[in-house]
Amino acid sequence: MSTIVPPPSQPEETRSPLQTLLENPLAHDGFVFVQAEAMHSLLPGLTQWDQFAASWNDLGVDLYMADGGRYRRRRYATFSLSGETISRKPHQPHYQSRDYNTLNGGIERWFEPFLPETATSPALEAILRLVCRVATDLTPPARRPGSWHAETHQFRIEAQSDKPGHPTPEGLHRDGVDWVCVIMIRRENVACGETSIHDLNRQLVGSFTLTQPLDTAFVNDNRVYHGSRRLNRTTPRAPAGAMCWL
Ligand SMILES: [Fe+2]
Repeated sequence: MSTIVPPPSQPEETRSPLQTLLENPLAHDGFVFVQAEAMHSLLPGLTQWDQFAASWNDLGVDLYMADGGRYRRRRYATFSLSGETISRKPHQPHYQSRDYNTLNGGIERWFEPFLPETATSPALEAILRLVCRVATDLTPPARRPGSWHAETHQFRIEAQSDKPGHPTPEGLHRDGVDWVCVIMIRRENVACGETSIHDLNRQLVGSFTLTQPLDTAFVNDNRVYHGSRRLNRTTPRAPAGAMCWL
């Protein structure tokens, strides 16, 4: 599993920031929480963030919530990633088996597509390039695909005073993929929403809260479960609280 942990002979000074901040802890622990400042240093091509983040104001209501909730908005797009090439795939449904999503899985779910300007945003491109690099670096050569299939979700969870939002209503789960990357876009008038990581015996191995824009969690979906606690509105008189993430 741990494919890129530097051997003891590798001098510390030859390790790259990508290895030190992200790849080595991810390979060792099966997950890593990278705070925004470190993520900025790993995403030198990140530009036009404000326009990218503003696109979370225009998402469609998720009508597939088996708990009847209408607190989640989203858009969806898929991409092929290989080396320097990023290409958007035709719009398609999102499918998870009930093995992985006992609440909302087992059916094809059609969500609104990413807007064209979001799908071609340089901010998204920088993020997808980093994800492709990490997935490739941490996957043994014999198991690397010719290109990665990247399922990309824009999520917005809303919390009312009397109805908390649920970032992961299915609870503790795996997504049925190889790698998961969750990036905070912004929080407005909400508290809590702690993310926890559990091993395959469901024992807690880590927890953290994504708070600042660009706070990020990378997860090896083959090795750990993840889930986030409910989200509470902070100030009752202010507009509905929301948490947006990619
Ligand atoms: Fe997930």
